[in-house]
Amino acid sequence: MGAPSQSDDILAARFTPDELARIVSDTFIDRVDYHATIESTNDRAKKLAADAPSDATCVLVLAEEQTGGRGRGANRWWSAAGGLTFSVLLGRDALDLPPDRLPRLSLATGLAVCEAIESVVPGLAAQIKWPNDVYLSSRKVSGILVETGRGGRIVIGIGVNVNNSAQSAPAELRDKLIALCDATASTIHRADLLVAILQRLTTQLDRLRDNTGKLVEDWQRRSLLTGRTVELELPARRIAGRCRGIDGDGALVVETDAGIERSLSAVIARFE
Ligand code: BTN
Repeated sequence: MGAPSQSDDILAARFTPDELARIVSDTFIDRVDYHATIESTNDRAKKLAADAPSDATCVLVLAEEQTGGRGRGANRWWSAAGGLTFSVLLGRDALDLPPDRLPRLSLATGLAVCEAIESVVPGLAAQIKWPNDVYLSSRKVSGILVETGRGGRIVIGIGVNVNNSAQSAPAELRDKLIALCDATASTIHRADLLVAILQRLTTQLDRLRDNTGKLVEDWQRRSLLTGRTVELELPARRIAGRCRGIDGDGALVVETDAGIERSLSAVIARFE
């Protein structure tokens, strides 16, 4: 048996106590709930919310690996070592958003992820695929799952493929995914990326709460689907047409033969 290769070292790397302390000192996070392996950081954050529905602190649930990472609808999240998988449990009243603003929360989070990726790896251009994915070079690099826990506490779950190359993903996912290390051919410092995401999340959540800034223009500018032919699955039917962008409510706007359709909850069945 030979010495471990560099990639083995990278995949075995864990967050250090210094890095965990830096997350608390440099961002709005009050406490880190760290796990080497967990089923799902969103489930853990919801459990923490159930135990303390009126807690006002913000907790970061961070895991090196998940055994049952969940996504929107039936989606699963491939959570291998080297990736970044975490959930932010906001303190009670940290963001008093009416439920109809939750779709905008996914998009605002997507903006934070795009900006953070571009700040840590200059030269990349990240896009938002409505409503909760981030794409690089037409492949998914990040997924976002926003949920509400007990006491109305908000859970923002984020997965990013970082040093877990798509080459090591299950065969059926391999050509749909990309990791930052695939896009740059170098190793990314996960703690830098995590801090950058959390710092930009603060700005985006402020803009969302205060309804300030050019939030809508920003997600329009980054929208992957705009101008493309899309097929959407709605609760009782499928529609197809040309995507005309994302409106101020965070709804996807599609022009079909029958007219304009808006949806806040569709599943994208296909796009080209
Ligand atoms: C999607 O692809 O529909 C969204 C995927 C969201 C995955 C993240 S990983 C951290 C957090 N914990 C989960 O179980 N899911 C989210």
